[in-house]
Amino acid sequence: MTALVTGASSGIGRAFAVELVKRGTDVVVVARRRDKLEELAKELDGKADVEILVADLSDPDQLATVEARLADAERPIDLLVNNAGFGTAGPFHQLPVEREDEEIRLNVVALVRLTRAALPGMVARGRGGVVNLSSVSGEQPLPGWATYAATKAFVTSFSRAIAAELKGSGVKVLNVLPGFTRTEFQDHGNFGQHFIPGPVWMTPEQVARKSLKALDRGRSEVVPGLQYRFVALVTRLSPWPLTRLVLRGATRKMW
Ligand SMILES: NC(=O)c1ccc[n+]([C@@H]2O[C@H](COP(=O)([O-])OP(=O)(O)OC[C@H]3O[C@@H](n4cnc5c(N)ncnc54)[C@H](OP(=O)(O)O)[C@@H]3O)[C@@H](O)[C@H]2O)c1
Repeated sequence: MTALVTGASSGIGRAFAVELVKRGTDVVVVARRRDKLEELAKELDGKADVEILVADLSDPDQLATVEARLADAERPIDLLVNNAGFGTAGPFHQLPVEREDEEIRLNVVALVRLTRAALPGMVARGRGGVVNLSSVSGEQPLPGWATYAATKAFVTSFSRAIAAELKGSGVKVLNVLPGFTRTEFQDHGNFGQHFIPGPVWMTPEQVARKSLKALDRGRSEVVPGLQYRFVALVTRLSPWPLTRLVLRGATRKMW
């Protein structure tokens, strides 16, 4: 079995790659930082085959090389983990538009194109899987994280739809909705991490393990961690006017 993991140079993607190798899966690891991928390959040396693919997935030409690798019938990929992603935080009208555009290209466009490249082969073989990293933050609009939450709402909607389309095909689609997880993600912006108490945080290893367990069980969605299952439930049940009031109060303290 071979899995392709995007964003494997750190955080949740790296944890997925390590966990998959522990299970005896060969991995193709994708990210922009070659040194980090080489470090990972060294760590995994002798345990499984590790193929390095350096690509900026927000760049159409570099994305095309990864699409081609996924569609290569000679070297089939059994599992695609669409994990690469980042978020921007702050009042939308003040954020640099190029970064917002890049966020949509990575979190949405790359995920759709890679899934589209991987699925025909999987469907033809009658087996395979796609794991998409969404977020509990995509469950409702999120003032202060407008673009990020919207990209994750897209991922959840898209994943649920294709999971339903592929039922009975032998190909599984799993939508993963993590909550706060300690990774490099928080280095890229003020995500309110300073307001979050220690025990609420997940580790990337917990997220990867719980996701793979859910995939084994044939589930199409997982919210790793009891605390975030509760958050997701409350968010889904709360009417938007109420959520908006609560969130506006909370985000005013941040910016
Ligand atoms: N951490 C959280 O609290 C949290 C919560 C919910 C959902 N998530 C989601 O989980 C996923 C993984 O995030 P993480 O927390 O593990 O963050 P992270 O530690 O910052 O990892 C992000 C990964 O994406 C890669 N990446 C970023 N831009 C890229 C690009 N243009 N092309 C290719 N690869 C790129 C990075 O590698 P390079 O820099 O080497 O390219 C890195 O390996 C994301 O989709 C995120 O939205 C995270």
